[in-house]
Amino acid sequence: MIRCKGPHSLPLARGASVPFASIMTSMHYRRFGRLGWQVADIGYGMWGMAGWTGSDDQASLESLDRAAALGCNFFDTAYAYGEGHSERLLGETLKRHPDKRLYVATKVPPLDRVWPGKAETPIGDVFPYAYIREMSEKSLANLGVDCIDLQQLHVWSDAWADDEGWQRAVSELKQAGLIRGFGISVNRWEPANVLKALETGLVDAVQVVYNVFDQAPEDELFPACERLDVGVIARVPFDEGSLTGMLRDGMTWPKGDWRNLYFTPEHLREILPRIARLEALLPDGMPLPELALRFILHHPVVSTMIPGMRKIGHVETNLAASERGPLDPSLVAALRAYRWDRTYDIP
Ligand SMILES: NC(=O)c1ccc[n+]([C@@H]2O[C@H](COP(=O)([O-])OP(=O)(O)OC[C@H]3O[C@@H](n4cnc5c(N)ncnc54)[C@H](OP(=O)(O)O)[C@@H]3O)[C@@H](O)[C@H]2O)c1
Repeated sequence: MIRCKGPHSLPLARGASVPFASIMTSMHYRRFGRLGWQVADIGYGMWGMAGWTGSDDQASLESLDRAAALGCNFFDTAYAYGEGHSERLLGETLKRHPDKRLYVATKVPPLDRVWPGKAETPIGDVFPYAYIREMSEKSLANLGVDCIDLQQLHVWSDAWADDEGWQRAVSELKQAGLIRGFGISVNRWEPANVLKALETGLVDAVQVVYNVFDQAPEDELFPACERLDVGVIARVPFDEGSLTGMLRDGMTWPKGDWRNLYFTPEHLREILPRIARLEALLPDGMPLPELALRFILHHPVVSTMIPGMRKIGHVETNLAASERGPLDPSLVAALRAYRWDRTYDIP
């Protein structure tokens, strides 16, 4: 078993970042809300390697190793990513880097396995008390740790905010030392559907879709996180891949790959002209993925972002964006015109 080491907290204001100069790239770190951890401003998303087609465990493990070597110290996984497979890959990575403080975030899947969470579903069908405890034990075993840094709920509806069951489970898991912090991963394109839960004081971090297109978290969620000192994890920084510039008209993925549900022909037809307009805005020498990550870096309330990566090359180029820092304010201002509040019915 790997013991959780205590968080090292430097006295840093939210949004301030410090470089870690003793490594090859100069990774920058930000304070993770009230938990006080110093986390890399570019972390690691671990869904693709255990859920999307084209994954290769060896390549994924090498990518994770490279990220750790370059100073990335925040890794987001979930039980639902391959029914524990992604968690086990992270567990192997933790064992290979016993000298490093790597922060582990995972998630309890909804009992009914329905994404997104819906107000009309009773919370007893989604996150009953005993189930949250049981799934946390399973994740602890998959990860090979005796304490999870951040346990999150994988869907949410604020209709459940007052429920005593999840609140008791979270408090008891913390008291027992089985989790250090607790977070909620909010439904796609519903960033405000967690504000009531934040007011309980039990939520240390929020995970939300935030990227060049999806800027709505800035309206209500980010101010609330700032006020309550809640850590913010920006997920899906590349809009599931469109903001890498690699998608083409008519593209499909092998049967069973979730991206077929997201990039429907209709959605893709709307995305591609927006990508073309974005590419016309790129400063000389800046690839689109770099613009996407450095846009997110501009927001001081974001503690870390978690690009999905399965290849060493992607790890190296993405983590290098940390050193380059936030985009020039004039470019951020121009990107305001690319905000896109979507309403597709997508899981
Ligand atoms: N409900 C939830 O809680 C929820 C939902 C979605 C995602 N998440 C979390 O957020 C993380 C990030 O989201 P995501 O992985 O779905 O999507 P994403 O980060 O927006 O995009 C990932 C895609 O971008 C590609 N990519 C990464 N860097 C690249 C680069 N420099 N150049 C070209 N392509 C690049 C990846 O390729 P390779 O994989 O081939 O490297 C992958 O196809 C997930 O891994 C997961 O941890 C949580």
